[in-house]
Amino acid sequence: MNILIKNIKELVQVETEPKLKVSGKEMAQLNTIKNAWLAIDGEKISDFGSMDDWNGVEDWSDLEVIDATGKMVFPCWCDSHTHLVFAGSREGEFADRINGLSYEEIANKGGGILNSAKKLQETSEIDLFQQATSRLTEISKTGTGAVEIKSGYGLSLDAELKILRVIKNLKEESDLEIKATFLGAHAIPEEYKDDRNGYIDLITKEMLPIIEEEKLADYIDVFCEKNYFSVGEMEIILEAGAAHGLKPKVHVNQFTSIGGVKAAVNYGALSVDHLEIMKDVDVKALSGTETMPTLLPSCSFFLSIPYAPARSMIDNGLAVALASDYNPGSTPSGNMPFVISLACIKQRMTPEEAINAATINSAYAMEISETHGSIAKGKIANIFITDPIPSYSYLPYSFGKNVVETVFLKGKTQ
Ligand code: NIG
Ligand code: FE
Repeated sequence: MNILIKNIKELVQVETEPKLKVSGKEMAQLNTIKNAWLAIDGEKISDFGSMDDWNGVEDWSDLEVIDATGKMVFPCWCDSHTHLVFAGSREGEFADRINGLSYEEIANKGGGILNSAKKLQETSEIDLFQQATSRLTEISKTGTGAVEIKSGYGLSLDAELKILRVIKNLKEESDLEIKATFLGAHAIPEEYKDDRNGYIDLITKEMLPIIEEEKLADYIDVFCEKNYFSVGEMEIILEAGAAHGLKPKVHVNQFTSIGGVKAAVNYGALSVDHLEIMKDVDVKALSGTETMPTLLPSCSFFLSIPYAPARSMIDNGLAVALASDYNPGSTPSGNMPFVISLACIKQRMTPEEAINAATINSAYAMEISETHGSIAKGKIANIFITDPIPSYSYLPYSFGKNVVETVFLKGKTQ
C-alpha cells in the first residue's frame, strides 16, 4: 500500500543529510517543513516535501490519501532503555516509599529487583509474552516505534533465558523495532548472597555461551552501583560479554558516582544510562567519545531522586538521549511524551533538544539511526500524526495529555 499524507501543518525532524546523532549545540537544531507532504511506499518513507512544490502523484492506484490539515507528523520515538518484560506490579513498595522507606531500604528487606525476580520465576513464558505484548501496544499508542528491552528480572539461568526468549518472540511478532539486552547482572540473587563470584561465574560461564549460541541478545548490561555490582565486577562481566559478541549498554551513576562511566566508556559502551549523579570526571570521561549518555527522567520523577544534569551535559558539548526505563520498580510507565515533558520541565532541555534526544539520539543508542529516528528518504515509515496542535512545543507543554492520533509502524496504521 502507498500512502500520501498531505497538508501536514509541520513535518518534524526531517533530514536531508542523514546523521547518526546530534551533540551539544547541534541538539538545539530541529529541522521541520511547514505545510508539508509525506509519501510512504510499503514499509518505507519514499519522499516528502513542501505542499508548495507538490505536483501530485503519477500513480493514484492503490494509494491512500490522508489529509492532515492542522496536524503535525513526527518520527516515532525510539525508547532505548526499558525492562518491559516483567511479571505483575509493585505498588506495595510504592506505598512503602510514601510512608518513608527509601528504595535501598525496600531492596534490603527483600523488595525491589528480587521481588520482581521471584514473581517472574513463577510466571510462564506465554503469560510473560502476553503481558509484554500489551505493554508494547500501550507504548505504541503514545508514539513509540522502537524499543530496547532488557532481561534482568530472572536472575537464574532458566529465568534469564526465559525473558530473552520472550524478547526474541516479540521481535518476530511485533511491528515495533526491538533490541534485546542481557542484564543478568541486575542484582545478586538471594541464594548467591555469600557467593557473589559464584553468581558472576554463572553469568559469564553458563548464561553467556547459551545466549550467544541462541542469538538471544544484542547488548550486555550491568547495574553498576553500591550494593549491586562494583566497577571491577562490571569490568569482568563486560569483558566476558565482549568475548561473546555483546556491546555494553549499562546502568551507572543512578545513586552514586563510583567510576562506572569511565570504565564503561573504556569498554566501548554504546550507551551509559541513568546518570542522575554526575561528577566532573564523569562528564569528562564522556567527552568526545562514541558513547551515548541516556537519561531517564521518569525514574527520577517516580523515585523522587535527582534528575540527571542534562543542561550542563549538553552545554559541555555532550549528546544526550532520552528513554523511559519502563519497569515495575522505578518507572512503571513507558510514556515517552511524558519523558519529553519532564526533560523540558525538570532538566531544562528545550523542546528541540528533547525531541532530538528521544528520536535520533535514542535511535543511536540502539544502533538504528540509519533506519529510524528521523523523517528521511528510505528510512522505515515509523511515524505518527498528532491531533491538531499549535506547534511542536505544545507536545512537551501539554504534559500528561496524549496528542498522538495515528501511529504508523513499518508503514501500517496501528
Ligand atoms: O533502571 N536501577 C536498576 N534497575 C531498574 C529498576 C529496577 C527495579 O527497581 O525493579 C532501573 O531503574
Ligand atoms: Fe533501567
